[in-house]
Amino acid sequence: MSSDNAIVVEGLTKRFGSFTAVDSISFEVKKGEIFGFLGANGAGKSTTIRMLCALLQSSAGTALVGGFDINKDPDRVKESIGYMSQKFSLYEDLTVEENINFFGRVYGLTRSALAERKKWVLNIASLEGQENRITGALSGGWKQRLALGCAVLHRPPIVFLDEPTSGVDPIMRRKFWELINDLSAEGVTVLVTTHFLEEAEYCNDIILINAGKIIANGSPKELRENHIKNPILEVQSRNVVDAMELIEKQPWALDTSVFGSYLHVGVPDETAARKEIELLLTQHQIGFEGIERISPSLEDVFIYLLDQEAKK
Ligand SMILES: Nc1ncnc2c1ncn2[C@@H]1O[C@H](COP(=O)(O)OP(=O)(O)O)[C@@H](O)[C@H]1O
Ligand SMILES: [Mg+2]
Repeated sequence: MSSDNAIVVEGLTKRFGSFTAVDSISFEVKKGEIFGFLGANGAGKSTTIRMLCALLQSSAGTALVGGFDINKDPDRVKESIGYMSQKFSLYEDLTVEENINFFGRVYGLTRSALAERKKWVLNIASLEGQENRITGALSGGWKQRLALGCAVLHRPPIVFLDEPTSGVDPIMRRKFWELINDLSAEGVTVLVTTHFLEEAEYCNDIILINAGKIIANGSPKELRENHIKNPILEVQSRNVVDAMELIEKQPWALDTSVFGSYLHVGVPDETAARKEIELLLTQHQIGFEGIERISPSLEDVFIYLLDQEAKK
C-alpha cells in the first residue's frame, strides 16, 4: 500500500444469498482527500461502507483502511475511523450534550479531551447554548452537524459519511459541504456517499456505482473530459417537457435530459442538429429562447453513463 493512500480496496464483494449487492469493486482513496461515492438507491453504497468500517463481513476481496486489513484487523480498523450512518446514529431522546458525552465514552476520551471536543462540536454544529435541548427536536440540518461532530469526536484520520445530506435542505447541504472541506483541510480523509449527482463537484475523486459495480472513476475534470465525446446542445424552453418528448424520438438524438427549463441533447453533429432542432420546434410551435453548445456537467456524464448501462 502506498503511504499516500488512506484506503485501498481490491475485489471487495458482498453477497446476500444468491444476490450480489457489491460486485468485486476496487479503488484507492488518497490521504486527506474528499472521496465521493455516488450511486442511486440500492446501488451498494451503504453495504460497501459497512464492510470498510468492519461492521459487515465481506464475501470476497480485501481492503486496507488506515493500513489495517478489514478481515484480519477489524478492531484496529474501527479505532482508525469515524462513521456517520445513513440514519444519523444519534439518540433522539437524549439531549445534545448527553449524545456528545455518550460518544465520548464510546471512544474512551479523557475528561479534558471530551470537554475540549464538546466545545468544538457545539461550535461547528452552531448549537452553543442548546446543550440541553432534546436531540429529536432539532431540525435535520442541526442533527446532521451534531452527528458529524460525534462521528469525529475522537479525531479519527478517516471518516465515512453515509448520505449525510439526505433529507436536508439545499442551504444546509451546502454549508455541510463546507464543513467536510474544513475536515479535509485538517488532513482528515473523507469518504462520503450521496445520491445527489450534483454534489460530485465538491469531491476530489469520485466513483460512480451501479448495481454493485463501479462504472466510472476519476476526478471531476477527468470524468467530464473522458466520457462524452459528442457535442451537447442546451435548449432553453418554457415548454421543455414537450420539447424533450419531440427531440428524444429523433434518430440523431443520442441522449436527452431535463435540468429545470433546459434540455440537454447529445448529438453527433452540432451544426446539423442545431438546424434540425430549430426546424422541429418551430414546426410544432414549441417556443424556445436559445440553443447553445455546452460542455458536459458531471450530471450529464453520470446520466450518460447510467443510460449506457441501462442499454446493456
Ligand atoms: N442485509 C441484507 N440482506 C439482503 N439484501 C440486502 C441487505 N442489505 C442490503 N441489501 C440489498 O443490497 C443492495 C444494496 O443496498 P445498499 O448498500 O443499502 O444500497 P445503497 O446504500 O447504495 O442505497 C440493495 O438491493 C439492498 O436491498
Ligand atoms: Mg445507503
